[in-house]
Amino acid sequence: MSKIDVVLGLQWGDEGKGKVVDVLAPAYKVVARFQGGPNAGHSLVFDDGAFVLHTVPSGIFREGTVNIIGNGVVVDPVILSEEIRAIEQRAGSIGGRLMISRRAHLILPTHRMLDAASEAAKGKSKIGSTLKGIGPAYMDKTGRNGLRFGDLELPDWRSRYEALKEKHIGLLSLYPDFHFDISEYERQWLAAVEELRRFPFIDGETAVNGYLDAGVPVLAEGAQGSLLDIDFGSYPFVTSSNTMASGVCTGLGVAPSRVGRVYGIFKAYCTRVGSGPFPTELFDADGEKLRSVGHEFGATTGRPRRCGWLDMVALKYAVMMSGVTDLILMKSDVLDEFETVKVATAYRKDGAVLEAFPYDGGEAVEPVYREFAGWQCDLSGIRSFEALPQAFKDYVAYIEGETGCPVRMISVGPDRDAVIVR
Ligand code: GDP
Ligand code: IMO
Ligand code: MG
Repeated sequence: MSKIDVVLGLQWGDEGKGKVVDVLAPAYKVVARFQGGPNAGHSLVFDDGAFVLHTVPSGIFREGTVNIIGNGVVVDPVILSEEIRAIEQRAGSIGGRLMISRRAHLILPTHRMLDAASEAAKGKSKIGSTLKGIGPAYMDKTGRNGLRFGDLELPDWRSRYEALKEKHIGLLSLYPDFHFDISEYERQWLAAVEELRRFPFIDGETAVNGYLDAGVPVLAEGAQGSLLDIDFGSYPFVTSSNTMASGVCTGLGVAPSRVGRVYGIFKAYCTRVGSGPFPTELFDADGEKLRSVGHEFGATTGRPRRCGWLDMVALKYAVMMSGVTDLILMKSDVLDEFETVKVATAYRKDGAVLEAFPYDGGEAVEPVYREFAGWQCDLSGIRSFEALPQAFKDYVAYIEGETGCPVRMISVGPDRDAVIVR
């Protein structure tokens, strides 16, 4: 019997999950996405360019790896089939290597409209959603109205689709200023549904448990980040799924006792796209430098990412909530030129010092910083821990001491091979 290992983001998304899954995938036979949808943008970098995955698990470019889109994922057929076309152009046929859970929900064209209408109506208090229809699709799931991949195998699936669409059109009339026309997208959507039928729709939970029973190692891939979790993130500025380790159990149908290692991915600094509290956000030249050196622009929306220093209060919370067993430190190379590197060790609010992550996600707090000497050298060519500069090793040791968790892998560049494994 083997266990299911997990890769998940410990910050606000975009930690580098795609790269890590691609790097780890050869050690696993199966990679399975457990939540989120096309709001995700997971970048993989090859010798001849980058590739961004939105719905397909990031093991797809490793030959022989089976990739499962789990029941916890919400899928837009248009985006998924475009993605498959692009993957096959690069890597040849993936038929037989991609499977979709029957219990995964579909994002309808009208879900996208509802997302856009709801965000527009929120005005200044908007979430900053990627507008892919994620919130409305999960609302229909929990509201018990959703359309699932398994439904596409029923003779009356089309009338179920029409009924849900009509319901959405009724809801959209609540936004009289919002004008929309789904006809072209709906045409593509219906065509994409037919295209996806060449991939097996499976009972993902039976498949995943069967692999584990047979001793086949499985890697679960998360999307977004811990601080965007619907329950524990900075609500309401969150996504609509459980992004922490608990999401693996519900999003793939595996028992907690079957979870093995939990790889927590984090950057050496922080970024956030969209609205919501971000205690260590920088509005100065350092923030600008993080954005330009780190190429911090959204892989899904192209939006500039907000940048700031590493936040130990938030990181410790995320490690605790997912029972992280191994840390993976990303984008260390982005800090190469900084003379000083800062880390928030606590927050100050109304004269009090907070050491625990607050329920509002750190609204209007002032970070308390600890300063570290920068390493001021190029990390990108280094491939062994011993060869790293002492100042960087001190930074890593501090993180390990605070979180109580070993840093097992250090990423020093976007390429597949730019990693130091300890
Ligand atoms: P994900 O959503 O967690 O998969 O992360 P994204 O792909 O949205 O964002 C991570 C970005 O950082 C991508 O552009 C990666 O190519 C890039 N990247 C990943 N690891 C490193 C690293 O160690 N150093 C640098 N400089 N870039 C990295
Ligand atoms: P990956 O998997 C970073 C953010 C959005 C917005 C909030 C809600 O690439 O790390 P949604 O579209 O879910 O309604 O948006 O969550 N968000 C992400 N931020 N990385 C992501 O995914 C994200 N997916 C959603 O910017 O603030
Ligand atoms: Mg991303």
